[in-house]
Amino acid sequence: MSSEKKNVKWNSNISFLLAMIGSAVGLGNIWRFPYVAYTNGGGAFLIPYIISILILGIPLLFVEYGAGFKFKAGISKIAHSINEKYEYIGWFIQTTPFLILTYYVCVVAWDLMYVPISFFKGWGSDPEQFFGTVLLQSSTTPDGLFHVSIYVLVALLTVWFIVWFISHRNLNEGIGKANRILTPLLFIMMAVIVFYALTLPGASLGVATLFTPDWNSIVNPVIWVAAFGQILFSLSIGMTITLAYASYLPDDVNIPKSALTVAIANCSFELFTAIGVFSILGYMSTTSNIPIGNLVSQGTTLAFIAFPQIFNIMGIVGYIIGPLFFLCLLFAGITSNISIIEPIALSIQDKFNLTRSKAVTYICALAFVISLLFTTSYGGTLLGIFDTFINQFGLLLNVVLQTVLLAVIYGLKKFLPGINKNATFLRLGTKWKMWVTYAIPVIAFVLWIQAVSANVIFVDSTTRLVEILLLLIMFCSPLLLSRLQPKNDDF
Ligand code: ALA
Repeated sequence: MSSEKKNVKWNSNISFLLAMIGSAVGLGNIWRFPYVAYTNGGGAFLIPYIISILILGIPLLFVEYGAGFKFKAGISKIAHSINEKYEYIGWFIQTTPFLILTYYVCVVAWDLMYVPISFFKGWGSDPEQFFGTVLLQSSTTPDGLFHVSIYVLVALLTVWFIVWFISHRNLNEGIGKANRILTPLLFIMMAVIVFYALTLPGASLGVATLFTPDWNSIVNPVIWVAAFGQILFSLSIGMTITLAYASYLPDDVNIPKSALTVAIANCSFELFTAIGVFSILGYMSTTSNIPIGNLVSQGTTLAFIAFPQIFNIMGIVGYIIGPLFFLCLLFAGITSNISIIEPIALSIQDKFNLTRSKAVTYICALAFVISLLFTTSYGGTLLGIFDTFINQFGLLLNVVLQTVLLAVIYGLKKFLPGINKNATFLRLGTKWKMWVTYAIPVIAFVLWIQAVSANVIFVDSTTRLVEILLLLIMFCSPLLLSRLQPKNDDF
């Protein structure tokens, strides 16, 4: 192992915690959660959501903390250490964060364009036309692949430069420092937006809409799958980010306390933001006489079309709340984006004995080339296909593979001394071990089958072609990476 990597540790507990919270709080919290909650039973969604945090989110966070803390390595090296024949699985798991990286950065780039534009409401009176026709120059047919939007390209290059610059520096100077600045700023700005939103006329209608439970939906399995999916995405589980960040933990950390802090901070932020988003939608509904249900849309439409429409009717305040909103998305996106690079960079360093700077540069360069697809006119549609496939197929499968590898094959017992070393009020033991080993792989597998059969199999021919290409990347690149000779003696 290069001496550069061997000695890397977070310089303080707060740096680690802010990096973990920065990773968890991302686009998923701000643009995904409000829509998912509303369309899946409103207030009733909170029950499966809270149960998912308790039975899936937190137990799996402990697994990633335990593995990272014990092995001080990425998942590929861990898999190889358990048994050489499992190295393929380690690299397979890394393909999902890599593919997420390629399109996540593009959504951040869309947002980056809106930061300067929002200061003068440059989207004009028709934000939908502005987003689709002017900025993305969208086309829903694959021949759009031959046309590039120069605006998206410039924004994408800028975001890539920012995330590369942060990530390629040493851990505390790069990721640590960026999160120490951006994560608190994000929380402060979001608090300003939410408290202002609550004073708007119609805010109570919005909040009531979000929280009015549709109790019939609680028995619908789709709602449960949506809640599990939201928790995995939001806590970045299955991407091995926590595992990578935990590999740099100093010896004196209280792991259960730290994991609970991250889960509580992330989920409170998510709920808090949803209250703000729905207050604003309630305001729009009251002012324009449009039923609130017609205003709730999935992330892209909500952030880049519905919100600009609302900032238009807010008058002068829209010039303040608009930029604050897009800056929040930007900061949340960047801190999550850099965290998605980390597990892959760590695995590459582990095996090929590269410096952090080189590993990050290679990953960013490769992901950048793929992300160019999303600068084309067909990019928006392609991004949707990537996102659905990776979330429904890749993330859930990763949870199954990771849990089988670390819990069933390796054994969670070996993580317990590390996890409990400095524990105070909560110590893990047999119940956690049994639950993660015997129940979670089964639950995750059932969810995976459900998700794949509902969203991946019955698709149109273009989507199928993209899915086949993604499957080829996911199955073939681990073959190559696991066959290559390690350049590190202790891999
Ligand atoms: N956890 C990150 C998000 O919510 C990936 O966007």
